[in-house]
Amino acid sequence: MSLKKILAGGAMAALLCSMAACGADGGSTGASSGGTSGKELKLSINQTEQHPNYIALAHLADRMRERTDGRINIKVYPNAVLGAQTESMQSLEQGVIDLASLSAPQLVNLNTDFQVLDLPLVFDSVEHQMNCLNDPDLVGDLYMSLADSHNMVITGAYTQGARSVYNSKQPIVTPDDMKGLKIRVQETDTQVKMIEAMGATASPLSFGEVYGALQTGVIDGAENNQVSYITMKHYEVAKYYSYTNHLIGADLTIVNADVYNSWSDEDKEVWQEEFAASVDEFNELWDATVADAEEQTKAAGSQYNEVDADAFRAVLQPVTEAALTTETQKALYQAFRERAE
Ligand code: GCU
Repeated sequence: MSLKKILAGGAMAALLCSMAACGADGGSTGASSGGTSGKELKLSINQTEQHPNYIALAHLADRMRERTDGRINIKVYPNAVLGAQTESMQSLEQGVIDLASLSAPQLVNLNTDFQVLDLPLVFDSVEHQMNCLNDPDLVGDLYMSLADSHNMVITGAYTQGARSVYNSKQPIVTPDDMKGLKIRVQETDTQVKMIEAMGATASPLSFGEVYGALQTGVIDGAENNQVSYITMKHYEVAKYYSYTNHLIGADLTIVNADVYNSWSDEDKEVWQEEFAASVDEFNELWDATVADAEEQTKAAGSQYNEVDADAFRAVLQPVTEAALTTETQKALYQAFRERAE
C-alpha cells in the first residue's frame, strides 16, 4: 500500500469517527492501538543528545505521547546504546526495537533503489532534497517497499546536509590530493565506489568506530557534515575540513511494520502530522547548528578550505550514472531532478 493511501486511510478514519460521534477523545480509545498501546517503544539513534536529529525526535516523542494520551509512548535512545546502525536495522526487523533513525545507505543493503537518495549530484540544496524526500507522491512506494520483505515502514526523512571530506594530513583541493589517503565511508558499495572515484582508498566502518580509527591512524580521514565533525569530536583528530560537498545525505525515521500496523488510522495520522512538524523544527535547528559547529571547530584549530568543485563534479557524475541501473532508480532520479530549481 502506498504512503498516500495510508495517509488517506488515516484521514478517512477521522472522518468516519466524527460522523459516528465518537466522543470527546475523538474515539481514540475505541480505535484500538493493538498490543503496543502504552508500552515503551524503543527508538535507536547513533547521535548524541546535542544533535538536531535527537532533539527533533525527542520532541516528536513528547508530542506523540501527549496527543495519543500515552498510547504511542516512544523513548529515544541516543549514542548507539541500542546498537550501531547495521545492528539496529536487524533489531528493527526482528522487533527487538521499535523505531530507528538510519542513514539512507544502510537501506541500500535491503533494496538498492534506496541508493538514489544517497548519490552525488542528486540534490542541489537541502530545500530541494526535503521537497522530494517528504513527498509521498515521489517516495511513498519506496518508503513502503520494505514492509513485507523486512517488516519496516519508512515514515520520513531529515537532512544530513552536504557531506564533505576531512582528514589529518592536508587540505584537499583536487581529487589528486586524495591519492594515498584512507577515508572512512558508510557501509555500502556505492559509498566505497564514490570515495575511490574521488581518488582515495575507502574504509567502510560504523560511525562509532571513526574517532578511534582516526586517532590510531588506521584511517586518515572521513566524510560527513560539520555537525557530526563536532559532536563525534572528529575535529580533534582530523583538522583539515575541505568542502567537497560531494552529496546531500538523509536520515530516515523507520518504524517496525508490526508496531506501525498496530496503530489506529487516527494515530497514524497524528504521527504523520507530528513528523512533518518535526521536520520543520529540525530544519530550523540545522543551519544554526552547522554555523556553530564551524565556529567552534575553527576556534579549536580546524582549517576549512574550498575545493576545485568542477574537478570533483567530473569524477562524481560518472559514479551517479553508473549506479542508476534499474528502471525504478532511473525514474526516481528523474523525478528528483525535475524538482530542482
Ligand atoms: C551522519 C548521519 C548518521 C550516519 C553518519 C555516518 O552523522 O546523520 O545517520 O550514521 O553520518 O557517517 O555514519
